[in-house]
Amino acid sequence: MANDGATIEALFSEGRKFEPPSHLKETAAINSADIYRQGEDYERYWAEQAERIRWRRRWDKVLDWSNPPFARWFDGATLNVTESCLDRHAATTPDKVAYYFEGEEGDTRTLTYAALLGEVCKLANGLSSLGVTKGDRVAIYMGMVPEFPVALLACARIGAVHSVVFGGFSPEALADRINDAQAKVLITCDQSRRKGQLVELKAFADRALESAPSVEHVVVVERTGNAVALKPERDITYAALTADQPSTREATETSSEDPLYILYTSGTTGRPKGILHTTGGYLVGVATTHAEVFDLRSDDVYWCTADIGWVTGHSYIVYGPLANGATSVLYEGVPDYPDKDRYWSIIEKYKVTQLYTAPTSIRTFMKWGTEFPDRHDMSSLRIIGTVGEPINPEAWMWYRRVIGHDRCPVVDTWWQTETGNMMISPLPAVTATKPGSATIPLPGIGADIVNDDGDSVPLGGGGYLVLTHPWPAMARTIFGDPDRFVETYWTRFSDPGAGVWRYFAGDGAKRDEDGYYWLLGRVDDVMNVSGHRISTLEVESALVDHPAVAEAAVIGRNDPITGQAIAAFVTLRSGVEGNETLLLELRDHVADKIGKIARPASIVFTDELPKTRSGKIMRRLLRDISEQRKLGDVTTLANADVVQEIANRAQSMRASTEE
Ligand code: PRX
Repeated sequence: MANDGATIEALFSEGRKFEPPSHLKETAAINSADIYRQGEDYERYWAEQAERIRWRRRWDKVLDWSNPPFARWFDGATLNVTESCLDRHAATTPDKVAYYFEGEEGDTRTLTYAALLGEVCKLANGLSSLGVTKGDRVAIYMGMVPEFPVALLACARIGAVHSVVFGGFSPEALADRINDAQAKVLITCDQSRRKGQLVELKAFADRALESAPSVEHVVVVERTGNAVALKPERDITYAALTADQPSTREATETSSEDPLYILYTSGTTGRPKGILHTTGGYLVGVATTHAEVFDLRSDDVYWCTADIGWVTGHSYIVYGPLANGATSVLYEGVPDYPDKDRYWSIIEKYKVTQLYTAPTSIRTFMKWGTEFPDRHDMSSLRIIGTVGEPINPEAWMWYRRVIGHDRCPVVDTWWQTETGNMMISPLPAVTATKPGSATIPLPGIGADIVNDDGDSVPLGGGGYLVLTHPWPAMARTIFGDPDRFVETYWTRFSDPGAGVWRYFAGDGAKRDEDGYYWLLGRVDDVMNVSGHRISTLEVESALVDHPAVAEAAVIGRNDPITGQAIAAFVTLRSGVEGNETLLLELRDHVADKIGKIARPASIVFTDELPKTRSGKIMRRLLRDISEQRKLGDVTTLANADVVQEIANRAQSMRASTEE
């Protein structure tokens, strides 16, 4: 593995290749490889793309990179992102649908651009009445309902900075994020719907607020209308807040480099990082890539299945599609409610033209079988995309064949919360695809693969993925911690003395003889579970927080469905017995502390953890044990004799702990 010091070995080879379909080549807006050449002069390229959005005042300089790695794009320009996303479409195509909302129980709501603008203005006015002004942070903790995008846009309308916390996170995770951002207002729902169940969002929010004193007001969207406690003075329903507000609101002028949002993501060490994105460059980046990668046309019906709680939802449900005046589907629930064909029935119902989903879902669909997609007419689909983790070639092929009927190009899009927009992805009418490869960097993006010394690895080899020059939607900093921003992303492969700045993504990759990139997963201590980044350290901290636990080590082991599954190794305090009851209690404890998504799939009790002489936990060994591989070299172990013990225990415990 790369974190042991060696360059990653590229072992797997995949020979299949698919040219873009001719019907697409003839009709797509981008159908010539010339665009890649244009992208080489990247400042000019992005300046041209900046014409996609509405500016109030134009920039003095396309890129100011005089203080790397802190970029300023379109410096001197002013705008309000909602004017690009809403006002101009409400003026020219007021009746065009922005969102077809589909509730989990089958209830629907259609929001045109004119209606969406009205809603956003009402809430913007409401937030103002609560004292929110430009630069204030607003936390958002919601289910997938139409008010979710409205909440983001209402903040943007008044220049407030939104900080969305995924609705599946625990009260404690919510509190941490609110405290870090010092949010003044929280927008949430009474409850959210998930797989026929009700999730008590407001009750969770109340628990979070017990230890998050910065929040002065809570706005509660009544999704289910079931009674929830409202704290006088502090809490107000969305309906009450917006009822008498005008449906117009002058947009607050922001500079191109004013913050748009903070979104927390897991890092290698310590608490989550508040990734900060700004306005002008971000909007140019997401609008451009959304149009390019999905070959967007005016009568398309586009559907991204992500939750707005993650960056994919921010960039490709809210800002990118709306900037492009697209019509999107917004679905509240899970793929298997009421039955396992729900996604396919939605595609048939709305005649969806582009589907953007995650490898973990695709693998689940494969498991369920073709009978479910086969029930529906999905001939409307033109392009199918994936994001969130590496997709193995067999899942890619299944997606192309069963969902895309061998007709739709698969766009595997590599990017991150920090990059803001897609970075490596095919252009569907230009780039030949290979199963399992995200293909090549998009126009205007620079990437490379380097070895431990930072030298570019020749084609055919593997190493660390770096981005070689700035791009408009790049993260500007970590909120409140610029040093950590420099340290995490810009130190390992940069050489400031020589003027070399390379962004280190934390992913391993290889490049084949055609220059195609094949992502190999994280090289740091971050797991990727169902496409979500979870830090091993946070799960370890949650385990050690339990009074029975002395020490814990957590790793991600390969899992056929979720990509990685969380495997925990725990030593207990003396006198405590490791039994089934405690095991279940620990799993719930982690779910309580961080969220269900972080609940370990397996826990092994062990008397000692395998450590190096310097006291570092040997994660590779634990990974080997968890994946039932032959044990690796253990000679650097101080306590080698525990390893077999752990291995034996892992073997016997696994069966009883997995879901
Ligand atoms: O490891 C890569 C993986 O997800 C990480 C980014 O996670 P996050 O910031 O949560 O954003 C997810 C949605 C953009 C990356 O560092 N990843 C994302 N997309 C891909 C991927 N790995 C391989 N192939 C992809 N297409």
